[in-house]
Amino acid sequence: MAVRIGDEIVLDLVDNAFGGEAVGRINNLVIFVPFAIKGEKVRVKIISKKRRMLFADLLEVIEPSPERQEPFCKNFGRCGGCQYQHIKYPYQLEIFVKQLKDLLIRTGGFLELPEILPALPSPKTTHYRNRIDLHPAVGEAGEPYYGFCLRNAPKTIFPLTECPIFALEDDFSKIPMRMEDKLLVLRTHSGEPYYYFKDNHNVVSSKPYDYKTKESLGDEDVFYDFCGLRFFNSYSGFFQVNPSLLETFAKVVRDFAQPKSDDLLLDVYCGAGFFGLTLAKEVKKVLGVEIDPSSIAYAKKNAEAAGFTNCEYTADFAENFLKGLLETGVKPDICILDPPRTGLTNKAVSAVKHLEPKRLIYISCGPPTFARDAAKFANAGYQLSKIQPLDLFPHTKHFELISLFEWKGKGLGSPTKSAESEE
Ligand SMILES: C[S@@+](CC[C@H](N)C(=O)[O-])C[C@H]1O[C@@H](n2cnc3c(N)ncnc32)[C@H](O)[C@@H]1O
Repeated sequence: MAVRIGDEIVLDLVDNAFGGEAVGRINNLVIFVPFAIKGEKVRVKIISKKRRMLFADLLEVIEPSPERQEPFCKNFGRCGGCQYQHIKYPYQLEIFVKQLKDLLIRTGGFLELPEILPALPSPKTTHYRNRIDLHPAVGEAGEPYYGFCLRNAPKTIFPLTECPIFALEDDFSKIPMRMEDKLLVLRTHSGEPYYYFKDNHNVVSSKPYDYKTKESLGDEDVFYDFCGLRFFNSYSGFFQVNPSLLETFAKVVRDFAQPKSDDLLLDVYCGAGFFGLTLAKEVKKVLGVEIDPSSIAYAKKNAEAAGFTNCEYTADFAENFLKGLLETGVKPDICILDPPRTGLTNKAVSAVKHLEPKRLIYISCGPPTFARDAAKFANAGYQLSKIQPLDLFPHTKHFELISLFEWKGKGLGSPTKSAESEE
């Protein structure tokens, strides 16, 4: 029986795909169904097709999974932010481990899986995010409002007055914050809420304002206290979005890095220096690199505030910096990589491979790009020893991971399909 767009069918769901949807199969076609769970029998309507993949809307859950729960946000389903509120929290964590294994096998081509530890839960599963970006819109009666993009219709903004995963437990529509055509960025730092505006291309358009008084905060730094250190940052600079898991995050990085007093540690994509600084007192030297000069200025300031004299920071492309380091003949012992979700460029992988750090700690919020890059390190002679997934983003499809690669020598890395085909 051919399946066409518009058809309604009953489907048994056999997996939870990376990206948030459950998966069914019919006539050798894969069907992706949002807001459903592996093991459920559902009635769906096919809405689109791409090659051998069909995409459906969920119409009815005929046989629910025991892992199903009532979503806690009234906007769940129409908002593009959360994908998993209908799934009990412990099972969300299990899903991530299974998705990671699948990605390592399918995308990375790993023939043997590393030790994958159970995903670490977030201590806070609501009101955990320290940042949301709200889009400006105008209602039918001409009234301005702020909101989020509708799922599957990113140009349509629905009004959002509160968000149960954002740190601030408040109705933010009460506050007449507005800058024509600009997005409103609401953030908290060490518990204090503030806001500023930016344009559609992420260019910051205003100074920060105190959320409660609405007064300008001028050029004041914001700060975060973690691991016994104070991390100053620019009000618009990158900071990890879920502070409730951050001390644990740093502890796992330390466990994997096993710092020693004569180690040279590279902190690549260092932001304002978070990971390197949490290890600075245990190693000989920290070299940090980051593309954003303002973050580098804060990394320097944070090292100075902590009294560390063994940290050097450079504002540059990671690729250039690593290549330059290679030319000096310096041999790092530990290399922390924490790139954006897009992962590493070939140039960055190549430079790290040639530097041959003994221990490589690759932190990723993009598991598919991680699986791709991990295979390249494995083929170069690294053993992918273990991975710790962490749920930095409860109720969403996203998860973070910390991985440990150990240098074994050329040809002695974790076996992958691509290495086999190169032989
Ligand atoms: C996931 S954040 C990590 C920040 C930092 N490790 C932390 O925990 O705060 C990725 C960082 O990589 C930086 N970045 C992006 N592309 C880069 C590149 N080609 N070279 C160096 N840094 C880059 C971004 O500016 C951002 O600060």
